[in-house]
Amino acid sequence: MIEQIKASANYIKERVAGFEPEVGIILGTGLGGLVNHIEIAHSIPYNEIPAFPVSTVEGHAGRLIFGTLGGKKVVAMQGRFHYYEGYATWQVVFPVRVMKFLGIQTLFVSNASGGINSSFRVGDLMVITDHINLIPNVLIGKNINELGARFPDMSEPYSKALEALATEVAASKGIKLQYGCYVGTTGPTFETPKEYGYFKAIGGDAAGMSTTPEVIAARHMGLPVFGISIITNAAFSGQKSTHEEVQQEGAKAEKRMSALIIGMLEKM
Ligand code: HPA
Repeated sequence: MIEQIKASANYIKERVAGFEPEVGIILGTGLGGLVNHIEIAHSIPYNEIPAFPVSTVEGHAGRLIFGTLGGKKVVAMQGRFHYYEGYATWQVVFPVRVMKFLGIQTLFVSNASGGINSSFRVGDLMVITDHINLIPNVLIGKNINELGARFPDMSEPYSKALEALATEVAASKGIKLQYGCYVGTTGPTFETPKEYGYFKAIGGDAAGMSTTPEVIAARHMGLPVFGISIITNAAFSGQKSTHEEVQQEGAKAEKRMSALIIGMLEKM
């Protein structure tokens, strides 16, 4: 796998001719609009990159975007890979591995989730302070020592320094933040009432179908992570959860989410 990661990274390095990203961003739900703020220098469709996984969603090739945002050089993933789509976990995190080889020093990740904490409201932004991973661990298998340790520490999965920065930036922009633990599930089903109850009992504040594999891979490689989640449905309410609702609420939160991320990048 390490050869494939290097092959991808080397190809990309040639394409971007000297552009060295400092920050990697996974544009999950809620951050799609961030693309419009990036001063784009290069854009590479996933299907042109050797060994890169290719997106299954029609009309959405998926691409890596290189450019400047908030005064920082960034590489953003437009389109991510989910375990529920049928990708192996190593494929889900492959782009994160490649971004590390491109030189990123920090990873930003966003997603949509169902609120389990009953003090949350639909549309809230939740800073991810910890997670409970219920997706098969991406590090199962032979460890690649060049990437990281066999038994990685996970005492600070999400950077406390970046969390503090988010709090500061949000306060200065009047953006309300919640804080909590993200439960990463395989999906694609939303949870049963008892499953939401179970997640609450074990300490979860929100549940979603992504993110934990990428964060584990990032921590394996020593990358500090900032994670943010849009509460798109009130899972605790017992009401139906739909993909449409998730999309709509995600779109509504986009402005606040983008303003927060740009503000953080400016201050890093
Ligand atoms: N559960 C799991 N994933 C989700 C949810 C949810 O309630 N909302 C958005 N993504």
